[in-house]
Amino acid sequence: MPESVSPSPSSPLAQADPVARPDLVAQDAQQAPVAFPPGFLWGAATSAYQIEGAVREGGRTPSIWDTFSHTPGRTAGGETGDIAVDHYHRYRDDVRMMADLGLTAYRFSVSWSRVQPTGRGPAVQVGLDFYRRLVDELLAHGIKPAVTLYHWDLPQELEDAGGWPERDTAQRFAEYAQIVGEALGDRVENWITLNEPWCSAFLGYGSGVHAPGRTDPVASLRAAHHLNLAHGLATSALRSAMPARNQIAVSLNSAVVRPLSQDPADLAAARRIDDLANGVFHGPMLHGSYPASLLSATSSVTDWSYVLDGDLRTIKAPLNALGLNYYTPALVSAAPGEPKGPRADGHGASAHSPWPGADDVLFHQTPGERTEMGWTVDPTGLYDLITRYSREAPGLPLYITENGAAYDDKPGPDGQVHDPERIAYLHAHLAAVHRALADGADVRGYYLWSLMDNFEWAYGYEKRFGAVYVDYETLERTPKSSARWYGEAARAGVLPGAGSGD
Ligand code: FCB
Repeated sequence: MPESVSPSPSSPLAQADPVARPDLVAQDAQQAPVAFPPGFLWGAATSAYQIEGAVREGGRTPSIWDTFSHTPGRTAGGETGDIAVDHYHRYRDDVRMMADLGLTAYRFSVSWSRVQPTGRGPAVQVGLDFYRRLVDELLAHGIKPAVTLYHWDLPQELEDAGGWPERDTAQRFAEYAQIVGEALGDRVENWITLNEPWCSAFLGYGSGVHAPGRTDPVASLRAAHHLNLAHGLATSALRSAMPARNQIAVSLNSAVVRPLSQDPADLAAARRIDDLANGVFHGPMLHGSYPASLLSATSSVTDWSYVLDGDLRTIKAPLNALGLNYYTPALVSAAPGEPKGPRADGHGASAHSPWPGADDVLFHQTPGERTEMGWTVDPTGLYDLITRYSREAPGLPLYITENGAAYDDKPGPDGQVHDPERIAYLHAHLAAVHRALADGADVRGYYLWSLMDNFEWAYGYEKRFGAVYVDYETLERTPKSSARWYGEAARAGVLPGAGSGD
């Protein structure tokens, strides 16, 4: 962990290290098979708008992603999720495919506008029935479902009423959580309130590369707070709606922020980005407060007056687990007086910064091999992230709720899709998870992003993250060699060699 993001003495980070697992350490040291604990979940993840299609069926109304993707110039090639990979109609085959591969868990999201089209009022049973059938199908195949309530697709009507910068959206989200909890809580144990609230707040309302495409720094910070509040309210609503055995978590894309040098200015820049990427969410969620350094660094942008009495208590609703999504680390330095240019943030370029109050921080490309997204492959970052959150949230089980890579996959002359780079990526990252386990981290499962190629937001269909290849003409699914490699790992609970499977 870089010094810049190391804990203040009062933070739980300063508490005792987790207890190392010598049984797992020995395996690595002897180059013996990298074996995971029994019961470890081997999953894949998706989200509703990226795979379902059927956007006008069953009473579903537009979400902000329907509006955004249909606005010229917002997505690569003007692509939309109208059809996506038609999972809404093909879910039975998709579940069978997961079972055939050997997966033991599946993380998917519920489309809010499918179950509560205007974002308020009574639920549409047809919408809920789709998810009931999907869950029943998963359970019948021995696959453990994990439901994400919000993966970025706010009903458009709620955006028209002000969206996440407005407090009422958090209340609406709690009502929706209650509906879904009551409908699925008897059969789904693993729950995730929000997926990557950083993207919703800062890409959606700051840089504008995600829906709804607004570029207003104040709105982005207001959105962050109301997403936090939504998480807290929804956590309590879910608890009251579901059996006590169910586990509630949130999935954060907590950044691994590294300073370019040990120069105090670079360390301070890394601290600032760490606050804006991580502390702004885990501060209130885990510790019941926003970091003082965040409040002062953003004081020229906002006065935070929308944080009302009692909010922080609500947001700190107890959790059963924490989900971490990891792709690549960030490398930053101070750049006082640096001219502001277009900013690439990994999800697209914009003239507007997704980092309010940090215009003088420069982002650098981490050296090393890159994926098709231009993201550096750095498994050590995953290890660092896990060990950091083992200390940040002592006693809270962790799940890697997303990790994966896009490559330019194509079927070969044999009709098969060979993706040795993805196998190497998965091997290295799972080995990093294993190393963290051996060092005492409590990681309970790993969800590969993604089950199959899908609509990659502003990039349209151009970036393929799937372990399963999708032919966008025919929508035919073909497991890539990485899917077979991963399935073999899932069945055995042991990593096959990186060279096997292809
Ligand atoms: C994450 C998102 C997921 C997908 C991957 C590549 O930030 O949660 O939907 O876009 O990145």
